[in-house]
Amino acid sequence: MSHVIRLAVFGHPVAHSLSPRIHAAFGQQLGHLVDYTAIDAAPEAFTAALQAFAATGGTGANVTLPLKEAAFALANTCSERAHRAGAVNTLVRQGDTWHGENTDGTGLVRDLTERQGLDLRGRRTLLIGAGGAARGVAPALLDAGVDGLTVVNRTAARTDALADALGDPARVHPRYLEQLDEMGEFDLIVNATSAGRAGVVPDLPRSLVGMRTVAVDLSYGEAAVPFLAWARAHGARQTVDGLGMLVEQAAESFALWYGERPETDAVYDDLQSRTASLVTAD
Ligand code: ATR
Repeated sequence: MSHVIRLAVFGHPVAHSLSPRIHAAFGQQLGHLVDYTAIDAAPEAFTAALQAFAATGGTGANVTLPLKEAAFALANTCSERAHRAGAVNTLVRQGDTWHGENTDGTGLVRDLTERQGLDLRGRRTLLIGAGGAARGVAPALLDAGVDGLTVVNRTAARTDALADALGDPARVHPRYLEQLDEMGEFDLIVNATSAGRAGVVPDLPRSLVGMRTVAVDLSYGEAAVPFLAWARAHGARQTVDGLGMLVEQAAESFALWYGERPETDAVYDDLQSRTASLVTAD
């Protein structure tokens, strides 16, 4: 049994987070005692909450909505991926400083390629949203070899900011929502907006979806239902929610803290059966 390290997930709200359960299961699998709590911190209270956590021995953290961009700003150093994303979901204490990483994109690509069996290379891809979630996955999608990444967002200024941060003008195409009508079908559509949490679908033309389209929502559970139902209704070949990405990004974070990557299938299967039974029980 190894040493216990003190970990937490910061978010607002965060009570619903599955991360404590996922990391406890990983620890059990690899023989590590895991002390992982959920800490609710509003954006204005985040810096102080993280300082207090470090002062009481905190050595690693996940950061979730809406704090990922704030975590990037306050990390003392960060990985190249986190830098391109402008968002951090994993913090590692190094001496007196925090190092920022972003494992969301790696987690998404791993879920899509290994669990869902998709080849992302050459896929014409549409990313909807330009907040922390979209920023987290965009660099990894590009690195996975998608054939151009079109980015749209309700607020156009954020689309441009994301495209600039990605620094790949030959492959990243910022567009206005109104331009989508003329763009035809996409092979891969990734919904990285938070609209589903309000039970709505971003206003999108159905012409984006065709028989080859794989539709992905980065949310899981009920928040993923509106967009994935919309995509299915318009003929999408396959729909994928964000549960697999959640488990895979957690495994990547765990590996940064413990130096060992856990197996994810058993944890994924367990969570999927629980969320499925929650939905059918309604
Ligand atoms: P997150 O970290 O989940 O990305 P965020 O940074 O608040 O959270 O970003 C939320 C994203 O969802 C944004 O892209 C937002 O669009 P705006 O930038 O225009 O706010 C998008 N979003 C939220 N509700 C939406 C809706 N009803 N329709 C379309 N986009 C929506």
